[in-house]
Amino acid sequence: MNKILLILTASLFISCNSPENIAIKAAVVSARTEASKIGVNIMDKGGNAFDAMIATDLALSVCYPNAGNIAGGGFLVYRKNDGSFGSLDYREKAPSLASRDMYLNSDGNVIKGKSIIGGLAIGVPGTVAGLYEVHKKFGSLPWSELVQPAIDLATRGYLVTEKQQKSFDGKKNEFIEVNGENTFYAKKHEKGDIVINLPLANTLKLIQENGRAGFYQGVNAERFINRVKNTGGIISKEDLKNYYPVWRKPIQFEYKELTITSMAPPSSGGVCLGQMLKMIEPFDIKKYGHNSMESIQVMVEVERRSYADRTEYLGDPDFVNIPQNELLDSLYLNKRMSDFNWKKATLSSDINPGNIVFNETEETTHYSIIDKEGNAVSVTTTLNGSYGSKVYVEDGGYFLNNEMDDFSSKPGVPNMFGLLGSEANSILPGKRMLSSMTPTIVEKNKKLYMILGTPGGSTIITSVFQTILNAYEFNMGIQESVNAARFHHQWMPDIVILEPKQFDLSLILNLNNIGYNIEERFSRIIGRVDAIMIDDNGVISTGADPRGDDSSSVLR
Ligand code: GLY
Repeated sequence: MNKILLILTASLFISCNSPENIAIKAAVVSARTEASKIGVNIMDKGGNAFDAMIATDLALSVCYPNAGNIAGGGFLVYRKNDGSFGSLDYREKAPSLASRDMYLNSDGNVIKGKSIIGGLAIGVPGTVAGLYEVHKKFGSLPWSELVQPAIDLATRGYLVTEKQQKSFDGKKNEFIEVNGENTFYAKKHEKGDIVINLPLANTLKLIQENGRAGFYQGVNAERFINRVKNTGGIISKEDLKNYYPVWRKPIQFEYKELTITSMAPPSSGGVCLGQMLKMIEPFDIKKYGHNSMESIQVMVEVERRSYADRTEYLGDPDFVNIPQNELLDSLYLNKRMSDFNWKKATLSSDINPGNIVFNETEETTHYSIIDKEGNAVSVTTTLNGSYGSKVYVEDGGYFLNNEMDDFSSKPGVPNMFGLLGSEANSILPGKRMLSSMTPTIVEKNKKLYMILGTPGGSTIITSVFQTILNAYEFNMGIQESVNAARFHHQWMPDIVILEPKQFDLSLILNLNNIGYNIEERFSRIIGRVDAIMIDDNGVISTGADPRGDDSSSVLR
């Protein structure tokens, strides 16, 4: 008996002291192991969540070149441990020579591909200016220490994963079409290979030595502008030099015990997430059950209504008046759902006229960070398309974004791809294009509860929406909330997209019978959510999305 007790006590002692049972003090969840580790190392050296953000972001620019970037843009939403919130908009801008009809031919039709591939698709990038701005306001370690790990990663190389090899192979022809046969990323980079990118290491050294000027002026600016010109683009030296990010008041709203803080316009994320959660608040979603017929119905209907509003009202707040308070008003939102019918799907064409698909592609990346002091950082950053415009600065080691495609090429009319057009998001010099990126921080009873976000173009908002509900309403842990099957509706086209092979046939048939058009067989994964949760007892856990190579790194 005593012997058994001894063994039991010993095994209990071992399991209590195994690494998983020691409380997490700080964490980074990102699209790549290398980047998450680099972020955590910075916090281990005494850096805060903002220092870790800079190091993680630059590491992603090296080892995740499809979306990690120094020539794209992004949004930061933060909550400091004193409970104060803020956000930084370092979204790209239209160049000063841009014009409303720049993608139209003489007949007024959209020229296929012009806003997607090549020099004219590139917006003035914001990433390095954004990171430097964060450093100036919140940094605790020297800038050069934050840039060094990315330089080391580019110099020593990163490991190609299976998913990454597929991604390189899939884009090879486009890399060659834009950059020629000898372009760096058209070379065969196979699973298990180490990719060393010395030109990028050198660009990062310029940024290390000169801060934002290392990117926006001098040698790098010359290289950037030459490449843009050679590929038909219009960004000038002044556009680069004059780029500045903007601190903005984030969107904040309540849902039951939760206070949710997310990105304001020029992202549609915060407003739409607020609309969706406020519209479902009167429904007993918990009682309906996770991914049940009822919960899918009501969630699809609020998504439909919110995306219709997005189309009409949202754009760059520095250029258009956005009725933000009205859009988030409970009376307005309740009225919006007043025609919802359990027995019959609402037709999108009855919600608002149009025939629209959102014009973001699915390549973006998100990371979530918490530091030892409880500061929280939620960042989504993008080149827009996978590897952006495919224009590669060979002597700088990086891709340029194609964020101009997030504008409406032809306001009011769907373009040749069936993409959305609206006046609020038309092109003007210096204007920021509308985004769906939704970096989000959630409090429960005023205490930090979740840090989350995802890539996925227009599916970003609905993925964040579902992940919050999975955790809060359906009592899932954070990893389970991230893993759970997702669905998506965006008003137009009038289709409910389900992740493949995740939903019962009977559920699909029942939804079909009452008028929902379901797309399941040919659909792809939806989003790659990277999230952190802090439970009621202050215990931190992480959820890295298994749909990608995403990974958590923690400090215990
Ligand atoms: N380019 C993706 C987005 O900003 O939503």
